[in-house]
Amino acid sequence: MKKILTLIEQELAPAFEQAGYDAGYAKVTVSNRPDLCEFQCNGAMAAAKAYKKAPIMIAGDVIAKLEGSRMFESAQAANPGFINLKLSAGFLADYLNEMREDENLSVEKAEHPKTIVLDYGGANVAKPLHVGHLRPAIIGESIKRIGRFMGHKIIGDVHLGDWGLQMGLIIVELKERQPDLPYFKEDFRGEYPKEAPFTISDLEEIYPTASKKSKEDAQYREAALQATYQLQQGRPGYVALWRHIMDVSLPDLKANYDRLHVTFDLWKGESDAKPYIADMVQNMRDAGIAREDQGALVVDVREEKDTKEIPPCIILKSDGAALYATTDLATIVERMKLYQPDEIFYITDKRQEMHFTQVFRCARKAGLVKEDTKLTFLGFGTMNGKDGKPFKTRDGGVMRLQQLIGDIEEEMYHKIMDNHEIDPGQARETAKIVGLSALKYGDLSNQAPKDYVFDIDRFTSFEGNTGPYILYTIVRIKSILNKYREAGKRADGRMMPAKSESEKALMLELARFNAMMENAFEEAAPHKVCSYIYDLANAFNRFYHETKILTEEDAARQAAWICLLSLTRSVLECCIDMLGFEAPERM
Ligand code: ARG
Repeated sequence: MKKILTLIEQELAPAFEQAGYDAGYAKVTVSNRPDLCEFQCNGAMAAAKAYKKAPIMIAGDVIAKLEGSRMFESAQAANPGFINLKLSAGFLADYLNEMREDENLSVEKAEHPKTIVLDYGGANVAKPLHVGHLRPAIIGESIKRIGRFMGHKIIGDVHLGDWGLQMGLIIVELKERQPDLPYFKEDFRGEYPKEAPFTISDLEEIYPTASKKSKEDAQYREAALQATYQLQQGRPGYVALWRHIMDVSLPDLKANYDRLHVTFDLWKGESDAKPYIADMVQNMRDAGIAREDQGALVVDVREEKDTKEIPPCIILKSDGAALYATTDLATIVERMKLYQPDEIFYITDKRQEMHFTQVFRCARKAGLVKEDTKLTFLGFGTMNGKDGKPFKTRDGGVMRLQQLIGDIEEEMYHKIMDNHEIDPGQARETAKIVGLSALKYGDLSNQAPKDYVFDIDRFTSFEGNTGPYILYTIVRIKSILNKYREAGKRADGRMMPAKSESEKALMLELARFNAMMENAFEEAAPHKVCSYIYDLANAFNRFYHETKILTEEDAARQAAWICLLSLTRSVLECCIDMLGFEAPERM
């Protein structure tokens, strides 16, 4: 369906033309003075210069041509030359009736669907998932869902950190503890054991221990670097250990992401880039874009227009080891080969911006992507505690994701139990669903690049701009719809022209759903979906408090309201699905 703004512009354009002005001036926006009107056109002001005429005169001329239009309830000129518009309630009801029948709730799918590889998640194997991995998962999942809803082909890749120093650290620590394992014998030719010599809880202890040691002990660190390098070169015992580490870690990682309702199409990682590295590096050498610098291999990515220093992109360390940039570049080669994407979109901490600037420039310079392949980086800000510093546990440690989710569910459980009488088992179930909304909405309602304060008390509140408030609104609507049905009535009426101001305000909110979604996708901005549903929920609650729906005696009017409610519910549910959570039946 066309956007309501487009329809209004199409109504205004001929009026401008018939009055003797260029139709291009018929640009319409949502009013920034809702007390005066719903939509406004500032075209008369823009046209004044070209036509050497007072804008208010032009506005008057255009409005005269709108007479008889059934789209507007009123069209008025206001000084110095605004055209203030109010939609006719009948036109609005028709629009919403059509929207209700539309399978995409009025949203038009992309005319030219794009294939987009979405790189989000980025968990590091063998390191516990901590809150730093919450944001990419939540934001990425939402952008993926929005993109799909708009009709694009989105391939979500978790791109695990599975090829770095943490692997070398674990290998070295294991060697210290169990030196007799066959993995460490260079001349071992037999078959390595099928069972890993450690469990997930062992790993959870081994990695931090090793990481701490390497910071205090230069020799230990050197050994870990060496082991990482040998792993990358394919030393059989280390590769076998690496397999074990992967096999033990992945189910745990998946369980964590599942709990967040975050899913990936691809469970690839940095290690998958390996087969592409050698050729890629050779091509960079052959093309003369890579040069030696103190033993390392680098590509200059400085550009004339730069206002800050962009250091060369390091492709190989002096010992020949691959780095983060190397695997990212080789992964681009792989993605282009396997998926031919129109765009590769990365979501990481904004502190990685320089890394991606270097990688993107290097990829273009080396011709790894097509000229029109888009490479996009979305950097998100830090999740802070109430003290304004990065979020920590109470004793100052790194907060595990599991613990954070647990804390939020616990808080939600108490709020639900305080709220009304409910079976504790059911309250636990509901707390899971509502807790997830608190967590995700609390994050997504902020602009991604900004830092935000994680405030468990505020996020779990049933009032204000929170996930639970949105869910509460949905549950309220569901309950009215159920009662209506239980009274033996069928919800098959049609919306009627709004009777009250609050009803019309709700209808206007619904009518801007498609424009909002388009914009949220274009700007990769889930926060726009949040602020939209907050407005929509508020508009609904205002209408609800002013309107006695279930006791209305005029059956047609009541049926029309039920339609309006059911559309409101569909739009809210669609939006929370875009944000990656759902509503319970009761709460
Ligand atoms: N594993 C990385 C980290 O924890 C994030 C990976 C992001 N994606 C990428 N293609 N570099 O920082």
